[in-house]
Amino acid sequence: MTTGTLPEGQVQAMFDRIAGVYDAMNSVMTAGLHHRWRRRAVDLAQVGPGSRVLDVATGTGDLAIEAASRGCQVVGSDFSEGMLERARAKAPQIEFEQGDAQALRYADDSFDACTVGFGARNFSDLELGLREMARVVRPGGRVVVLEITTPQRPPLSTFFSLWFDRIVPLAGRLAGDPDAYAYLPSSVKRFPSPEDLAAAMERAGMRDLRWILTAGGIIAIHVGIVA
Ligand SMILES: C[S@@+](CC[C@H](N)C(=O)[O-])C[C@H]1O[C@@H](n2cnc3c(N)ncnc32)[C@H](O)[C@@H]1O
Repeated sequence: MTTGTLPEGQVQAMFDRIAGVYDAMNSVMTAGLHHRWRRRAVDLAQVGPGSRVLDVATGTGDLAIEAASRGCQVVGSDFSEGMLERARAKAPQIEFEQGDAQALRYADDSFDACTVGFGARNFSDLELGLREMARVVRPGGRVVVLEITTPQRPPLSTFFSLWFDRIVPLAGRLAGDPDAYAYLPSSVKRFPSPEDLAAAMERAGMRDLRWILTAGGIIAIHVGIVA
């Protein structure tokens, strides 16, 4: 079983490996609700036709696709070619490029918003990833982080533990990749609380931090304005 942070090469290889089952697993594990969370995340980015949006750790591209559906000019970036191949097959009109979220190739201030969905918890250096997101967004633009968060109080904390410690690893075994779906709960558990993530975003150069909790408190969507 895999726990804690993995070296970047291993995370990349893991996502290359699970790319083929990723979308199906997402739908099963969230009962299809992830599309609703993505809509809320893009709402919070306050973008519209013509806005330039970067979606980092874009994976199979669903958050990028949501932004593009609103008329934004979107670039999706990820270090896993396996995930990007799926994204390109789903949305050939979007630019999907290979890249490390912790060393973005884009110039300062080149986007109106930068988003990340279920990707930040995989960053080996979260603050570096957040600083990079803020750097490529123009002052006044927004950074949005959509992530799973650990509920603190029962009954949700009990349900959450059951789901992540038992059901998700079991689903991973059925999907043929137990290690990848054992990594998921451990990556969620070591991710900062909503308050601590907001503080990290502030340190990374954002202000007016706000977040919403949804799905009974297991999903947090943070938004900050680039100073
Ligand atoms: C759980 S998936 C999320 C994919 C997608 N954003 C979504 O909402 O479904 C995490 C993604 O983050 C990518 N990733 C993790 N660390 C990264 C990094 N440092 N640079 C670029 N991509 C990264 C992985 O390759 C994977 O595609």
